[in-house]
Amino acid sequence: MTSTESKSILNVLGVGSSMRQISYSTAALRIILEKVGRNNAESKLLDLQKTRLPMLYSQDDTQEIVQVTGLVKWADAFVLATPDYHGSMSGSLKNFLDYFWSEFAGKTFGYIVASHEKGLTVMDQMRTGVRQCYGWSMPYGVSINPEDDFNDKREVISTKLSSRLDMLARDLAVYGKLIREQFLNDLRQNSLVNTFAGYYR
Ligand SMILES: Cc1cc2nc3c(=O)[nH]c(=O)nc-3n(C[C@H](O)[C@H](O)[C@H](O)COP(=O)(O)O)c2cc1C
Repeated sequence: MTSTESKSILNVLGVGSSMRQISYSTAALRIILEKVGRNNAESKLLDLQKTRLPMLYSQDDTQEIVQVTGLVKWADAFVLATPDYHGSMSGSLKNFLDYFWSEFAGKTFGYIVASHEKGLTVMDQMRTGVRQCYGWSMPYGVSINPEDDFNDKREVISTKLSSRLDMLARDLAVYGKLIREQFLNDLRQNSLVNTFAGYYR
C-alpha cells in the first residue's frame, strides 16, 4: 500500500486508451481531470497512446511498465476513458487492467466512453473488469457522442456533457476519498474484525 493513511488530497489517475492522435475520449478525460483538480484532488494523465505498454507477458519490465506502475501505485482513484470498439473497451485499456489488477482494491473508478451509441455495454464491461479486481465503480458514467458534443476544434459544445463531467469530477473526488480512507482504516483494524479489507490483507 503506497498511499498515505489519511488522505487529505485524493490522487486521481486518468487513463486515456485511444490510439488515435486526436481522440474524443482522451479530450473529455483531460477536461474531467482539470475539474477533479477543483475538488480537492490531484490528477495526472496516463495517455496510453503516448506511453505504450507492451502486451502482457510479451516483454520484461520496460521503461513504460516501470513508469506506469509508479503512476498506478500513486493513484487512489481512476478515470478510465475509452472509445467504443464493437460494444467493448479498447484493447489497450484491457491490457492496462490486466497488468495492474492487483492495485485496484479499495480504489474507486469513473468511466468515459466515446460512442455513436450510448456505450452502455462498454461501461458494463469496464465495471465487470474492475469488480473482478476488487475495485469500486461509480454507479454512472459519461457517454460522449463526438459529432454532437464537440466542435471541429475538439471543444465541448454540449452543456449537458459539460455538466455531466462536472458531476463525475465532484462525485469521484468525494466518494473516492471516503472509500479510500475507509479501506485504509480497515486495513489497519484488528484482524478479528470481519471486513473486506481484512480479507484482502
Ligand atoms: C474497430 C472499431 C470498432 C468500433 N465499434 C463501434 C461500435 O460498436 N459502436 C460505436 O458507436 N462506435 C464504434 N466505433 C467508433 C468509435 O467508437 C468512435 O469513433 C469513437 O468516437 C472513437 O473514440 P476516440 O476519438 O477516443 O478514438 C468503432 C471504431 C473502431 C475503430
